[in-house]
Amino acid sequence: MTGRIIGTGACIPTLVWDNNKLAEMVETSDEWIRERTGIARRHIEKERTATEMAIEAAQKAMESCAELKAEEIGAIIVCSIAQEEVLPSVSCQVQAAIGAENAFCFDLKAACSGFVFAYNTCLAYMNMGLIKNALIIGVEKLSTITDWTDRSSCILFGDGAGAAVINACEEEGAMMMKCDGSRGEVLTCPAGSTLLMNGQEVFKFAVRSVPEAINEVLAKKMLAKEDVDYYILHQANRRIVESVAKRLGEPIEKFPMNLEEYGNTSSASIPLLLDELYRSGKLPKGSRLIMAGFGAGLSWGASYVTV
Ligand code: UT7
Repeated sequence: MTGRIIGTGACIPTLVWDNNKLAEMVETSDEWIRERTGIARRHIEKERTATEMAIEAAQKAMESCAELKAEEIGAIIVCSIAQEEVLPSVSCQVQAAIGAENAFCFDLKAACSGFVFAYNTCLAYMNMGLIKNALIIGVEKLSTITDWTDRSSCILFGDGAGAAVINACEEEGAMMMKCDGSRGEVLTCPAGSTLLMNGQEVFKFAVRSVPEAINEVLAKKMLAKEDVDYYILHQANRRIVESVAKRLGEPIEKFPMNLEEYGNTSSASIPLLLDELYRSGKLPKGSRLIMAGFGAGLSWGASYVTV
C-alpha cells in the first residue's frame, strides 16, 4: 500500500523580505545569496500564529478535495519546529477547525525531515489498516527562531505552511528513514534561543545522504529512475538539489524548486512545493514522485508517493 495525494493547500505570509532587505541587516549581498543558495526572497509571518497558518493550509487542502468529507480523515499529523504553543497540539486544533472528528492527531518534530517522516508514519498506519485518509501539514515560523545578526544562517530561512491530503491506495509503497543523533551538534536550537548551524557540514551530509536515501527507495520499489516524474526534495539550497540530481544522474528538470521565492521553510518546504505543482496541473493523475527530506537530528528520509 502507498499514499496518493488527493488534495493540497498552503498558507503563505504576505510580507516578503528580499535579499536586499537582509543586506541592510547583515553584511551580505543579493549576489552572494543568489549564487550560494538560489534564494531571492523569503516570506515572513508577523501576525498569525503557526496554528492559524496550519489551519488555513489544512482548510485549503480539504477544499481542493471536496469529495472527501472531514469525518473521513483518520489521522492529522502536524510537523513543526517553530510553533508558539506547547499544548494543545497544533494538530488537535486543526482537527477542531476542520471538523475531522474521527481523526487521531499528534505533532511530530523531525525538523526538515518532518514532512517525509509524517508521511511515512501515515503509510505505516495505512498498511496496518488503521486509516484510509490522512492530513499532513508542515508549518514553520522560522523567523521567530532565526538569529537575524548571523549572516551564515539568516539568509536561508523563511515562514510558511503546506498541507496534503493523502489517500491509501493499493499500489506497493517504499520508504526509508534514518537518523544520526551523534552528529546533532551541526544544527541546534536550544529552548528560547535561535538556530545555530554549521552550514558546510549540513551541506556535505545532505549531498551524500539524500542520493543514498533515494536509491534505497527506488530499489525497494523496484522503480527505474526513468519512471519517476519528479523528485520533491526539501528546499534548503539550490546547490544541494543540483548536486543530488548530478549524483543520481537525473536531469535537473525532474527536481522542481521554489526556494527562490520562499527560502528554506524546513518541514513546510515539501508540501509548499507539492501544492504549487498540484495546483498548476503539473501532477496529473498517476504521477510518480519521490520525496526526500534531511536536516537537524541529523535525520533524513525518502518515500514514494503517487497522485
Ligand atoms: O534545512 C537543512 C538545514 N540547512 C541547510 O541545508 C544548509 C546547508 N548549507 C548551506 O546551504 C551553505 O553551507 C550556506 C549557504 C549556509 C553557506 O554557504 P557556503 O558556500 O557553505 O559558504 P561558507 O560557509 O563556506 O562561507 C564562504 C565565505 C566565508 O568567507 P571566507 O572565510 O571565505 O572569507 C564566509 O564568511 O562566505 C562568507 N559568508 C558570507 N558572505 C556574504 C558566509 N555567509 C555569508 C553571507 N554573505 N550571507
